[in-house]
Amino acid sequence: MSKPKVFATHRLFEAARKILQETCEAEYWSKPERPPREEVLQRLKDKEGLICLLTEKVNEELLKAAPKLRIAANVAVGFDNIDVAACTKRGVVATNTPGVLDETTADFAWTLLMAVARRLGEGEALARSGNWKNWDLDQLVGTDVWGKTLGIVGFGRIGRAVARRASGFQMKVIYTDAVRAAADVEKELKAEFRDMTALLAESDFVSVHVPLLPETRRLFDGAKFEQMKPTAFLINTSRGPVVDEAALVAALETGKIAGAGLDVYENEPLIHPGLKRSNVVLAPHIASASLETRTKMACIAAENVVALFTGRRPANILNPEILKAP
Ligand code: DGY
Repeated sequence: MSKPKVFATHRLFEAARKILQETCEAEYWSKPERPPREEVLQRLKDKEGLICLLTEKVNEELLKAAPKLRIAANVAVGFDNIDVAACTKRGVVATNTPGVLDETTADFAWTLLMAVARRLGEGEALARSGNWKNWDLDQLVGTDVWGKTLGIVGFGRIGRAVARRASGFQMKVIYTDAVRAAADVEKELKAEFRDMTALLAESDFVSVHVPLLPETRRLFDGAKFEQMKPTAFLINTSRGPVVDEAALVAALETGKIAGAGLDVYENEPLIHPGLKRSNVVLAPHIASASLETRTKMACIAAENVVALFTGRRPANILNPEILKAP
C-alpha cells in the first residue's frame, strides 16, 4: 500500500525524520534558505501532509494549491501563520507544538532581561573591540534586577515559567491576563494580579507572553509606553506585531522607557533601524532555540502527522471539530 506523501519545509532533525519514515513518504526541503513560496505551492500539489515552520503562510492560496492536503503541522506553538478557519473549511487538520518550549523560552526572556539591564551587549562589544582601556567605577553601569518588580503580560504556560524564575532574584511578580489565574497558582508563584494600567505603572521589567490575535496586535502602542516608568524595560519573546515598533522607537528616543530586549519583530527578518540602539538588546527570534527543544518541536509535529495517517487523533489539533464523528 502506498504511503501518504508529506512535504516538510525543513529537513527537521533525524529524530523527527525517523518518526515519519515508517508511515509517510516524506520529502524534505534541505537548502539552508527558506523555500520560495512558488516552490512550496508546487511541491504541495500531490501531498497529503505538510510540516511547516512559522515562516510559511498556510492560507487560502496554499490550501487551493494543495487539493489533497489533510494536515498542516506547524513546528511552533504560535500559529498566527495558519488560517485555521480556512483549514477547517477545507477539512485540513491544523496542529502546533505547545508545551515543550515553555521553559526554554522563559530562560531566554530572562536572558534578554538580564542582558539589557546589565548592558551585556555594550560590554561584550567593548571587551572584544580592543578599546577597553581600564576598569572604572562608573563604566557601563546598568540597573539591578534583583529586588525589582517584574510585570508579566499574558500568564499562560510561558508567562508562568518566567514568573517561577523570579523568586531567585527576590523580585515582586505581578501579572495581567484576560483571565485571572486560580488562587493556588498565584500563591505558588507569589504573583499578584493587576489590570494592565496598574501593571505598567508599577513594573520595572515588563515581559510579554501573549499570542498574536486581532486583539493583541499592537497591544503595546504609544499610550502603553506613556504609562510605563521611564526607568522600565520591555522584554518581548512573544510575537513582533504585538508591539507597535515605530511607537517603541519613539518611546526609546524620548526616554519614555529605559530600554528593551527583543526576540521578535513586526516584519521579520527586517528590524526597524531605530531599534538598533545601545539600550536595546536584539536577538533573531531564537527564544526556543535549544537543540533539545527544537528537536522536540519537530518530533511533535511529526507525531501529529503520523497520528492522523494512522487513524488516531493528533494530540495538538487546533480545529478538533474536523475530526468529530459525523
Ligand atoms: C513558537 O513556537 O511560536 C516560537 O515563536 C518559535 O519557537
